[in-house]
Amino acid sequence: MEDVRITIKPDVRIGTISPRLYGHFAEHLGRCCYDGLFLKPTSAPVPNQKGFRTDVLEALKNMPMPLLRWPGGCYADHYHWRDGIGPKDQRPRRLGMSCGEVVEDDNSLGTHEFLWFCEQTGAEPYLAANVGTGSPQEMCDWVEYCNSALDTTLTRLRRANGAEKPFGVKLWGVGNENWGCGGNFDARDYALEYRRYATMLRHVDPHIELVACGFDEPWNRTLLQTLRHHLDTIDHLSVHRYWHGEGGELDPSEKVSYRLFTEASLTEAFVQQTADIIRVELGERRRVGVALDEWGIWHPEARLQFDPDKRGGPYEQVSTLRDALAAAIVLEGFHRQCRVLSLANLAQVVNVLHAPIQTRGAAMWRTPTYHVFQLHAPHIGATALEVEVHASLLPVSEELRCVTATASLDKEDNLTLTVLNLHLDQSASVHFGGTEGRVLFDAQLLTADNPLAHNSAEKPDAVVPQPIKATESTQGGYLVNLPKHSMATFRLKRR
Ligand code: AHR
Repeated sequence: MEDVRITIKPDVRIGTISPRLYGHFAEHLGRCCYDGLFLKPTSAPVPNQKGFRTDVLEALKNMPMPLLRWPGGCYADHYHWRDGIGPKDQRPRRLGMSCGEVVEDDNSLGTHEFLWFCEQTGAEPYLAANVGTGSPQEMCDWVEYCNSALDTTLTRLRRANGAEKPFGVKLWGVGNENWGCGGNFDARDYALEYRRYATMLRHVDPHIELVACGFDEPWNRTLLQTLRHHLDTIDHLSVHRYWHGEGGELDPSEKVSYRLFTEASLTEAFVQQTADIIRVELGERRRVGVALDEWGIWHPEARLQFDPDKRGGPYEQVSTLRDALAAAIVLEGFHRQCRVLSLANLAQVVNVLHAPIQTRGAAMWRTPTYHVFQLHAPHIGATALEVEVHASLLPVSEELRCVTATASLDKEDNLTLTVLNLHLDQSASVHFGGTEGRVLFDAQLLTADNPLAHNSAEKPDAVVPQPIKATESTQGGYLVNLPKHSMATFRLKRR
């Protein structure tokens, strides 16, 4: 057993953990939007509200889900928003295209439906617009339709479609992966196109926040340099980070697990590097946040061609405790980088890729990643604190420790500490201090006998949080035994 000391520093404050760092992503891809969130004609007849599965809706309310990006992904650069408004039987049927998938798309889940769903779940909407096959005028029209309070033909149409008041959508993405699926632009061409879009969009609604498509270092530098004299056009720079791991979703080897944890931990450095590029290129002249608007594990099994006996659709994967611990590693990094990271979206919210929720017919289950998000809920909106951890390095890692931790202080002065034991064979005897004047009122553990344990239609609760006991130490602070491959959240209030 490893002896670990954690010291929380309530006086060393990093910054506010914006709810936007706990965002999710719903793309019209595979069974994420259609079938997962929203019923289609061939879906199982499950209880629903306005077509959205009630079980999924309720689960997302409780996760919680403060931000939701839609409709893509690569889908966004083919999407024409006008196809998704008005009476459903009159909406055009189009090709739904993303990531090699080409399906019939009846547009029954459109702007009003999506924004209704956001309102129900408490999610701030983040709309990704079309640069690949769209135009600045089309995006300006979408912003006007959603946000204008004036009396115009487009706002009359919105009212006729049931929304008297403007939706007030703040976050708008100008294209998606335009270096690839979104048009194979080169950086300067996209920068010029972006500048045109952003300039015109600001006239329609000066209060919106615009997200430009970023990529690698040369792309980001060229983009920012091209925008140098028009800095008011950009608020966030979008980058994506998927870890592809080695081996597969259920590969039991320790090497594969530790590699996955290491890859996940490098997400923080990626955010920092992107922020450094922004700082070097723009200096103090403009604050532009890093928008990590797609992140997560993408296993080799999650692909377009899928085995229908094993999974329900393309880009689906088994979502294990190991994947959930990898997500928790990333969330810790988000807390440390909360001054430069402005938003983040796990890809994707239901069924596709690193999903917190999965469905099969009438069945729905929460993956271990869902539980990681839920156990992190107290950190949302709180102030991230510095934490010192004394623990040995993970086998095969030169940087990642066996035990890692993050802490925050909320507005009611409650302290939350989340601790990970990433070791696959050893439990950890953890002492945590820096809790003077506070008493523990809740402690929850997420683990299982096997790091590859996962939930399913047959066993939806194979991996769920359970209470864990921590005892007050005679030296102050608390003592707890953390099992191997586990995560725990401790909540303390003023005595
Ligand atoms: O999330 C799946 C796809 O991954 C998205 O459509 C695209 O933006 C990325 O390549």
